[in-house]
Amino acid sequence: MLDPREKLAQKRVDSLQGGGAKRIEAQHAKGKLTARERIDLLLDKGSFQEIGNMVVHRSHDFGMDKQRLLGDGVVTGYGKIHGKLVYIFSQDFTVFGGSLSETHAEKICKIMDLALENGAPVIGLNDSGGARIQEGVVSLGGYADIFYRNTRSSGVVPQISAILGPCAGGAVYSPALTDFIFMVEKTSYMFVTGPNVVKTVTNEDVSAEDLGGASVHGSKSGVAHFTVPNEVLCLTQIRDLMQYVPQNCEEKAPMLPYTANSEIREKLKDIIPANPNQPYDIKEVIEEIVDTDSFMEVHKDFAENIVVGFGRLAGRSIGIVANQPSHLAGVLDVHSSQKGARFVRFCDAFNIPLLVLEDVPGFLPGTDQEWNAIITNGAKLLYAFSEATVPRITVITRKAYGGAYDVMNSKHIGADMNFAWPTAEIAVMGAKGAAEIIFKKDIDAANDRDAAWKEKEKEYSDIFANPYRAAERGFVDEVIFPEETREKLIRAFEMLQNKVANNPRKKHGNMPL
Ligand code: HXC
Repeated sequence: MLDPREKLAQKRVDSLQGGGAKRIEAQHAKGKLTARERIDLLLDKGSFQEIGNMVVHRSHDFGMDKQRLLGDGVVTGYGKIHGKLVYIFSQDFTVFGGSLSETHAEKICKIMDLALENGAPVIGLNDSGGARIQEGVVSLGGYADIFYRNTRSSGVVPQISAILGPCAGGAVYSPALTDFIFMVEKTSYMFVTGPNVVKTVTNEDVSAEDLGGASVHGSKSGVAHFTVPNEVLCLTQIRDLMQYVPQNCEEKAPMLPYTANSEIREKLKDIIPANPNQPYDIKEVIEEIVDTDSFMEVHKDFAENIVVGFGRLAGRSIGIVANQPSHLAGVLDVHSSQKGARFVRFCDAFNIPLLVLEDVPGFLPGTDQEWNAIITNGAKLLYAFSEATVPRITVITRKAYGGAYDVMNSKHIGADMNFAWPTAEIAVMGAKGAAEIIFKKDIDAANDRDAAWKEKEKEYSDIFANPYRAAERGFVDEVIFPEETREKLIRAFEMLQNKVANNPRKKHGNMPL
């Protein structure tokens, strides 16, 4: 018999073996890392402290009592990223395919409870065949226990999910309830029903990759916020993301050290094309405004007509929402409204100030948009901005037309500071359309219809296609030269850093979902 110290040492060694060398080899052969290798890459060196490494499952059916592996398919614990506490679970595909048993779920719940009580983020590394088939309903119950905690933790501590293998069936709903989903190209997939069920029910032939791979969820469905070519990059990007978010909803957004320099950005002078219908890339504007290389884009390939992401301004973490004139002219539609709204709500939940860059011709017209509820979805963005109590600043670079003017963080829905560039056009609609409606009779009566229309278009444009009507009303606080933007924003966000604003007391609002 082993002495107690030897016994513990042996158990420790056993607990590190996962499903054994052969399965680890198979995992590597698929281009995947093991649960522990992933943790090592994600956390600060040597900071991981495991919890529950001796846990084994309680199942006796189907010969399971003869296969009890220490840890039961998930490595859980806590550690640090950039010196800050995070809780982590990492599913081990080499143990019963990372499938979720009753005890596996209990381990995840334990660290989620600790995270909520201690106010620190939870990071889940998912790689699992789903519910442990041998356990039946107790496994389903385990999932529900996790979903319940995901929901209760939402808005209290940041929750991040990385999908690093299969994630199918109801299992997808835990990541879906978290704040950000990372997916790795070619090795991860998410779907509610897999290709075989799809074939049976709808007769569609589709591969797992085409049904729920990273590129599909990164571009078509928007389920994934980040898609990355490999696991190492995925874990590095999660570390990067953690630098922009606070530990919990009570903390202020992170502030990194910054040495002040000249904040004038000459390049912004010429960024708006002379022709107002010509596109430009709003990401170039963002890059010029934020601290060098600090922009981290979220949902890069989804609804590209709106750009959202994190950046830093003189070290301060901010969230950016910007219309993208180089994609669909920056119009608002169903997907861009959803994307914007979700991001705004994350930032507001975690005290991250918001910067909005506005160049929007309006909402996208058409049956497709109306039938897919642009009304309800556009209202999401309006609702998200209106309820946000973090410091909120808008810069109108060019177009601010119609309802979209109101929606894009206008002064009227609670923005704290609104700036406009001299190229701003703030009106109910474009001059051409406006002239056609309000001067219809004059235009129709004219000998030269086109010339009359052009003249009226100019008349409307001279009055409204500028920022000064709005500035006269105070809807715009200051019209600024583009090159001054960064400096003005640094000052304004600093001025707003102690803002206290509360929504009326309520149980919760009824957001148009
Ligand atoms: C128990 C499982 C398992 C599961 C895989 N394994 N999934 N064990 N329960 N759900 C085991 C396999 O038996 C195998 O064990 C090992 O994990 C690796 O699986 P392979 O099939 O060899 O791997 P691979 O070829 O890569 O295929 C992976 C897979 C496939 C696509 C995930 O295993 C699979 O389709 N599994 C079943 C998926 C599923 O239907 N799950 C239930 C979904 S419903 P050995 O000993 O050979 O290594 C669900 C409901 C959740 O999850 C509801 C929440 C509300």
